[in-house]
Amino acid sequence: MGHHAHRKLASLASSLHATRLLAISLGSTRVIVSSHPETAKEILCGSAFSDRPIKESTHLLMFDRAIGFAPSGEYWRHIRKIASYHMFSPRRISSLEGLRQSIVDNMIGEVWMEMNERGFVELRGILQKGSLNNMLESVFGSSDFGLNNRGYELGLMVKEGYELIGEFNWADYFPLGFLDFYGVKRRCNKLATRVNGLDQLSDADMVAVLWEMVFRGIDNVAILLEWIMARMVVHQDIQKKVQHEIDMFTGPNIQIHDSDIANLPYLQAIVKEVLRLHPPGPLLSWARLSTHDVFLDKCFIPAGTTAMVNMWAIAHDPSIWLDPWAFRPERFIEEDFSVLGSDLRLAPFGSGRRVCPGKAMGLATVHLWAARLLKQFKWVPSQPVDLGECLKFSLEMKKPLVCYAVTR
Ligand code: HEM
Repeated sequence: MGHHAHRKLASLASSLHATRLLAISLGSTRVIVSSHPETAKEILCGSAFSDRPIKESTHLLMFDRAIGFAPSGEYWRHIRKIASYHMFSPRRISSLEGLRQSIVDNMIGEVWMEMNERGFVELRGILQKGSLNNMLESVFGSSDFGLNNRGYELGLMVKEGYELIGEFNWADYFPLGFLDFYGVKRRCNKLATRVNGLDQLSDADMVAVLWEMVFRGIDNVAILLEWIMARMVVHQDIQKKVQHEIDMFTGPNIQIHDSDIANLPYLQAIVKEVLRLHPPGPLLSWARLSTHDVFLDKCFIPAGTTAMVNMWAIAHDPSIWLDPWAFRPERFIEEDFSVLGSDLRLAPFGSGRRVCPGKAMGLATVHLWAARLLKQFKWVPSQPVDLGECLKFSLEMKKPLVCYAVTR
């Protein structure tokens, strides 16, 4: 399937007139793919598909004890409840605003420095570092962790984990224990040993959950912000319009706060439009697994079937979205639309019982950082922006965004 699996599955489903439900086999694994909001809703919100398939890399990287991959029983309910209370509650999210502000202050300083030293900015590294520090400090509550070598080491480990989990591993589909195509198994074992070696983490379940938070939280936020800024560089008129909105609301020397975001509808519309065109999880990344037999769209689906929702295909479907390839945030001004999972025409955080628990935290970070970066600088192309994409664990820009940032 390679780095464009979402596109290949979308065109296969469309050419076979199977957008509602496409059935394929990967080795001995039965897979169904929905590219339609109605069947997507049945998969995500019904009771049948509440487990996740465990890939070999997932198991080796200790994610089978983490929220995202634990089977949907008592243990999963328990750790999800604990995380919702301690990490994702509105109170906890707003208590972390100071941290988000100080990290974006640093990021702005780094943008200045890069402009001075190199004459252009490559935002990816700055966003990834900011996002890493944000997650480490939110999870561990310690700035030393984020800023010393250990934070750097953990950043490298997350990167390696992403690559391994995104790697197509033949062993997941052709279970022959002695084979290790591409050395994925060997690399996973090595990485797991390094994760266990972090002495801040001791109890096995907590290792899994905290490691997952760090792992999950960092890349999606950084990737989404890079897409947003790339779109702002490409669409100068839209950038001007959102900067006008921000200026009108906050005035020249006034800091933007979380509480201001509700009054910036155009900024929110831009974030939604980027989530529609470049969803970080185009196949909702984490497939679902049926725990019992079920009828879906009048088809019999046996227990143990893997189900994927091709959110990218739904979000680009011309029968659902007017002019789907156009970048037009206004569509979300014209129609009040929630992207949090209630409307399956665009549910970039998934939906149902296993919907992303980090969505409010992720959006709070993305909105604040985008607003601050746009208020501070005018973002101008230094070369044509390549909007090519590459699906690893998340859907990244194939080439890092390089541009000029001019102080406003
Ligand atoms: C822009 C940011 C983000 C996007 C687009 C995103 C997207 C997703 C998606 C599509 C799923 C699968 C949902 C489903 O199967 O219905 C998911 C699950 C999950 N996400 Fe996020 N996510 C984001 C940020 C975060 C953050 C910041 C965290 C944690 C700090 C997080 C933690 C998780 C966890 C733990 C799960 C597994 C939930 C379960 O299986 O019960 N995510 N996310």
